[in-house]
Amino acid sequence: KRPAGAPDKALARPITKVGVIGAGLMASQFALLFVRRLRVPVVITDLDQARVDKGVEYIHGEIATLLAKKRISADEANRLRALVTGTTDKADFADADWVIEAVFEELGVKQDVFAEIEKHISPEAILATNTSSLSVEKIGAKLAHPERLVGFHFFNPVAIMPLIEVVKTPVTNDATLSTAMVVAGKLRKNAVITRDTPGFVVNRLLAKLLGEAMHAVDTGTSFEVVDGALAPFGLPMTPFQLLELVGLKVGAHVLDTHHAAFPERFFESANLHTLAEYGKVLDRDAKGKIKGFDKGAVKIVAG
Ligand code: 3HC
Repeated sequence: KRPAGAPDKALARPITKVGVIGAGLMASQFALLFVRRLRVPVVITDLDQARVDKGVEYIHGEIATLLAKKRISADEANRLRALVTGTTDKADFADADWVIEAVFEELGVKQDVFAEIEKHISPEAILATNTSSLSVEKIGAKLAHPERLVGFHFFNPVAIMPLIEVVKTPVTNDATLSTAMVVAGKLRKNAVITRDTPGFVVNRLLAKLLGEAMHAVDTGTSFEVVDGALAPFGLPMTPFQLLELVGLKVGAHVLDTHHAAFPERFFESANLHTLAEYGKVLDRDAKGKIKGFDKGAVKIVAG
């Protein structure tokens, strides 16, 4: 059955090579997924060779884990490793027909990244952004062909979470949307088509939950009380565990985007940016087990 709003699958373009811009944790996670499920070459780039190497190293590490867990054979591990390459040369993207970015969540940065890559890629290539909550239409503002840009939003941990939000802008064309839906299917994810609105569907809801949790802490309720109160509600993770999973900097960015778009509906957190710089809210033992909360950076404000 065709998902709501999805155009005809026959319009989808074949994907023979994937280009990934950004070699951070999220990008490396989905680069591996593209290699495993599409079985096509995946080239990954970032600002410098050290970042590229770190991303490729992460992917190799995950392939080794899959092998150790006997999810893949040694032959398959070798095949997957051979399909992943790192580069700092944009010319290596020339024959990619699907190019996806997960760089720093700042509009100007993403606009420039796409405008730059467009000079190196085929006019037929599809462009996708993994933005958490920025306007996909604005991200494509400097493109010569914004109709080939679509939002393709993964969730953490990428290998486990079953959803992809496919974000359609007012100008995304049917071939692009159809390709995105077919690619999501090949990645074995459920895809929903969303409007190009801040936070799309999932982050809009999570921003509410995490924003209120932060506001409670900002105004004097302890981390323990907020997280502990939510613990028996059947959520897979309590709010502050989730905030750390998505990354405090990403979380702060998502909250800022929502506050800017809907100031009457979303709080600006007094502490989240400081916490993001500080780096953590949870106190863990050497094995990563949660021991409690790290209150190092929190300042209570009136509210
Ligand atoms: N990274 C990678 N893999 C992880 C992981 C992590 N942080 N945490 C767990 N996993 C893997 C484990 O290795 C295991 O894999 P395996 O089956 O291959 O061995 C699998 O997940 C299950 O792990 P557990 O047995 O420890 O399972 P849990 O029952 O504890 O579930 C969870 C772990 C799936 C992460 C679960 O806690 C969960 O669903 N949490 C909520 C996650 C969520 O809401 N994500 C969305 C965040 S929003 C977002 O990402 C959008 C962005 O734009 C901000």
